Amino acid sequence: MINRAIELVRKSIEPLVFTGAGMSRESGMRTFRGEDGLWNEYSPEQLSSISGLRSNPEVVWDWYRMRLMASEGVVPHAGYEALTYLQKEKGNLPVITQNVDGLHRLAGQTDVLEIHGSMRTASCLDGCGFSTELTSEVLKNIPPFCPDCGAILRPDIVLFGEPLPQEVILRSYRLAEKCDLMFVIGTSVQVWPAAGIPFTALDKGAVIIEINPVQTELPHNENVISIRRKAGEILPLLFGTGEKI
Ligand code: OAD
Repeated sequence: MINRAIELVRKSIEPLVFTGAGMSRESGMRTFRGEDGLWNEYSPEQLSSISGLRSNPEVVWDWYRMRLMASEGVVPHAGYEALTYLQKEKGNLPVITQNVDGLHRLAGQTDVLEIHGSMRTASCLDGCGFSTELTSEVLKNIPPFCPDCGAILRPDIVLFGEPLPQEVILRSYRLAEKCDLMFVIGTSVQVWPAAGIPFTALDKGAVIIEINPVQTELPHNENVISIRRKAGEILPLLFGTGEKI
């Protein structure tokens, strides 16, 4: 199975990467679902929704401050480095991620499409145009207010109840339609419209190499190679930056 995957990567002309929270698990970030998932402990409706932010800004911002603090000092693991290496080798490898932690960019990857936004920045909830990096200084007082117009700030993450950034999601779907190989790494493939990205690639005849220790919503067929291993273990093996197999 791994040899077939290596051969497919070598031959692929239009490869694409699609990642989720499991990609960052070995860097120390928590996933949302499954064992020790954030949504087992917290309510997405309250903490990650636009209505929650408007009605309880302190609670929502307290949670984001906690997540930001948990991400401090977090660095990309060997699997990230392997993807960076592959991107350089291939010359053309867009990375679509549902993650908001910024680790793909921190690992030196380019052409990263953050379809759920980024928790590294915040902007004015009332849309006056103010935007800032999310530093501990900004988060000293919760909720943080816009210095320009006095409204509450919001994290630049797509909250439940909001549409995804149109240009980014449109380009993601276009890339999915024309790719010949898609890596689907560390995602439960449960959240739409993001989940439609791998299904679109499959519909258009691409092969998927899935890297996830557990089964997901993706089908079992000859076009889906499911490698039930952790991203940080398998990616360096596949892309030659680690021990050869
Ligand atoms: P989930 O938490 O739903 O799924 C994470 C997946 O990663 C699971 O299938 C795990 O089995 C897998 N996994 C865990 N450790 C792994 C490892 N070391 N290597 C590879 N895979 C591993 O996360 P997402 O699918 O990313 O939305 O969730 C999608 C969206 O739901 C998130 O972007 C977030 C959340 O609500 C927003 O914030 C808008």
